[in-house]
Amino acid sequence: MSTPGAAAPDAASIKPATGKLGIMTAGMGAVCTTLIAGVEAIRHGLAKPIGSISQMGTIRLGKRTDANSPLIKDFIPIAKLDDLVFTGWDIFGGNLYDAAKTAQVLDRDQLEQIRPFLESIEPMPAVFDQHYVKRLTAKKAKTGKNKCDLASQIRNDIAEFKSKTDRQVLIWTGSTEIFLQESAVHQSLAAFEKGLTDNDPGIAPSQLYAWAALKEGIPFINGAPNLTVDIPALNELSRKMNAPICGKDFKTGQTFMKSVLAPAFKTRMLGVSGWYSTNILGNRDGEVLDDPESFKTKEESKLGLLEMILQPELYPDLYKDIYHKVRINYYPPRGDNKEGWDNIDIFGWLGYPMQLKVDFLCRDSILAAPLALDLCLFMDLAARTPSLRGLGIQEWLSFYFKAPDSAKGVYPEHDLFIQSMKMKNTLRHIMGEDLITHLGLEYYGG
Ligand SMILES: NC(=O)c1ccc[n+]([C@@H]2O[C@H](COP(=O)([O-])OP(=O)(O)OC[C@H]3O[C@@H](n4cnc5c(N)ncnc54)[C@H](O)[C@@H]3O)[C@@H](O)[C@H]2O)c1
Repeated sequence: MSTPGAAAPDAASIKPATGKLGIMTAGMGAVCTTLIAGVEAIRHGLAKPIGSISQMGTIRLGKRTDANSPLIKDFIPIAKLDDLVFTGWDIFGGNLYDAAKTAQVLDRDQLEQIRPFLESIEPMPAVFDQHYVKRLTAKKAKTGKNKCDLASQIRNDIAEFKSKTDRQVLIWTGSTEIFLQESAVHQSLAAFEKGLTDNDPGIAPSQLYAWAALKEGIPFINGAPNLTVDIPALNELSRKMNAPICGKDFKTGQTFMKSVLAPAFKTRMLGVSGWYSTNILGNRDGEVLDDPESFKTKEESKLGLLEMILQPELYPDLYKDIYHKVRINYYPPRGDNKEGWDNIDIFGWLGYPMQLKVDFLCRDSILAAPLALDLCLFMDLAARTPSLRGLGIQEWLSFYFKAPDSAKGVYPEHDLFIQSMKMKNTLRHIMGEDLITHLGLEYYGG
């Protein structure tokens, strides 16, 4: 029996993942070097792709009694790790071995094993403007007469990389920029392209990379909370060019836990009166976020999800007075090994209060790297899938983001388990398999 919604099998029309997939990273710091060094270590059998759904996850097909759960990477046509080629941009000199040493995420011994590979990748000069990231100063940056000229230089870099690879994706693993709000220049592609020539201050460097990628017809992924493609102009360009976009800001540590715990409280109809979240971290990301303008961008991205999950408008007795606070404190001794504390005040039957404390001693980039890998592979798949590539926003990848994106007028889905189900059902759908609704009546003769 076929499930409604599964009626558009286009498995045969998905272009195969043959040849080289070029991954271009805007920003080659902690997350990027952990991703690239990790892929190389895995290719050499030195480590396992832990945390990557695309590499280790399975997907159930058919009934529970069918015992058919292949690995996702064997079920869908995604690029193989051996076929990935990397390049990118940054404002620092040196190569990726130097960058990985600076980031201090991976052990020296592990880096030595793949040193020649890392030394062979040197960031291209970036498009950078300190107005948008106050705490960093560029050593290597492009110059140009206006933003249009700079974005065109990025397009040239992409075109050059296209000649060496078969398909490409561009991922922003650059710093968190200052908080920008949507303005007139973002409302249409025409206004945006005029703004590029006029040097409109509403257009940040991350948007120049995004525009260049989409113009070149390649998917764009945003690992940071920056406004970037969250604007009508770049949504328009994405659909026009069949170049997919998705949500923003990797859902790694504290927000990952929030998107697990908040749905648990809601599903049991337990109230929440307060949620205080604080972080200490000492990497370069922490230093950038120490600037109040960059912190504001991160804060907005981290604050949104509780309200979306808890739906106080539907459950005013449980969630209307919630006090939600998020702090990030730069504390150099911790480096990339972040500590995220949450104090959660909840209440139960007859309003009696309870507390929950979560202390997550995590490793920021160790959590982020597999998400970045999956996103590159899945966005490349989306670009090859007829029923997905023209949609613009790939809502089925919400699973990976603190701030998922969704169609106008539709609230984004933040619950991790709904996101996971949505992602797997999308994969079943494009492969022409029955969707899994968990109804399960068929096991009881229903
Ligand atoms: N590490 C995580 O767990 C995590 C989770 C969610 C989101 N993020 C976001 O991902 C991004 C990267 O994090 P990270 O830990 O790798 O930070 P990082 O500071 O180590 O690396 C960012 C790099 O981007 C470069 N950069 C800044 N502006 C640039 C530009 N215009 N063009 C090219 N390069 C530019 C910086 O020089 C730096 O090397 C940050 O925005 C961070 O907030 C990280």
